[in-house]
Amino acid sequence: MNYLLDRQDLYNLDKNEIIELLQLQGDDFLKLVKKANEIRLKYRGDKVYFRGLIEYSNICRKNCLYCGIRSGNKNFIRYTIKDEEFYNAVKFAIREQYGSIVIQSGENTSPAFIEKITEYIKEIKKISNDKLGITLSLGEQSIATYQKWYVAGAHRYLLRIEESHPELYKKLHPQDGNHDFETRYNCLINLQNIGYQLGTGIMIGLPFQTVEHLADDLIFMRDLDIDMCGMGPYIEHPDTPLYQYKDELLPLKDRFNLTLKMIAILRLMMPDINIAATTAMQAIDPMGREKALQAGANVLMPNITPKQYREEYLLYNNKPCIDENPDDCIDCLDSRVQMAGYRVGYDEWGDSTHYFNRKNL
Ligand code: 5AD
Ligand code: SF4
Ligand code: FES
Repeated sequence: MNYLLDRQDLYNLDKNEIIELLQLQGDDFLKLVKKANEIRLKYRGDKVYFRGLIEYSNICRKNCLYCGIRSGNKNFIRYTIKDEEFYNAVKFAIREQYGSIVIQSGENTSPAFIEKITEYIKEIKKISNDKLGITLSLGEQSIATYQKWYVAGAHRYLLRIEESHPELYKKLHPQDGNHDFETRYNCLINLQNIGYQLGTGIMIGLPFQTVEHLADDLIFMRDLDIDMCGMGPYIEHPDTPLYQYKDELLPLKDRFNLTLKMIAILRLMMPDINIAATTAMQAIDPMGREKALQAGANVLMPNITPKQYREEYLLYNNKPCIDENPDDCIDCLDSRVQMAGYRVGYDEWGDSTHYFNRKNL
């Protein structure tokens, strides 16, 4: 076994050690995953927490060079879910005892959008008797907006840094004054100061990205003291500018394995956070999310967006469950979790214990 995995203070890994772990192959790779699973079981138990994902709208003011729903892509229909459909999805999550939902959307900073989300948050609290946890994934917003949504009842926020190196971030985003690394970083700090449980994450296998970058990304997350993480492989989308680098990318299988290693190493570095097994993992490997769970992830985000909209929320190719209705995923997900060796934490928020530890609560 690689000598590093025997250490007691794995949360202290330095950059060179992380790089060494990212390069493990064969048996050592399996041992890394096994170690991460042990640590996950010790600190976070054998439960998997569900967050029902509602992809509220694919209208986005941003134009990220990698993303299928970037504002510059005109090859699909833009939608916003209607109130009734939104509440049906919420009721579905309550009925199925999901514990929490995530409201995700393309970035929209209009007053109407901000009000609508506020109204939704308050109403969800009401109809679920405060039972349903609410995570937001609504991009960069003003401090006042973040505050407003927090006061209304949202308690977790996901905002991926996407890539923690300002120079690489620049190459992945248009230079139009609307995609600044600084702004994004400040949003993360603002969210944390307001009191949200903070989630961030990155994409893995991007053009120009090296293992050195990835090691730094992990250190970035530890330094920021995040509570939750969602990272997934980058999957090229033909209607995006970044597609031109498709021949320079790692093979999909390698991006997948690299993501498993990133999850496992992050679990060693931050034993008590929540880590999501992301949908992009399943887009590459039919058992992708299960493999992520076995490498240290403990959260799943079942898609509960009504079926007719799912085709239009294609951030990347090959997204799974496009032809399924939320109902189709119920039994499928439960048995997948059990097959992987875990239990679903029905009706539980499954908050990140890291949050309470860092707040001394
Ligand atoms: N491949 C993988 N993930 C992507 N995202 C956007 N485009 C892609 C892509 N082509 C991710 C980003 C964003 C999240 C909602 O989806 O990390 O934060
Ligand atoms: Fe919009 Fe997010 Fe896609 Fe960027 S990654 S274009 S902010 S939906
Ligand atoms: Fe959607 Fe299996 S999770 S069908």
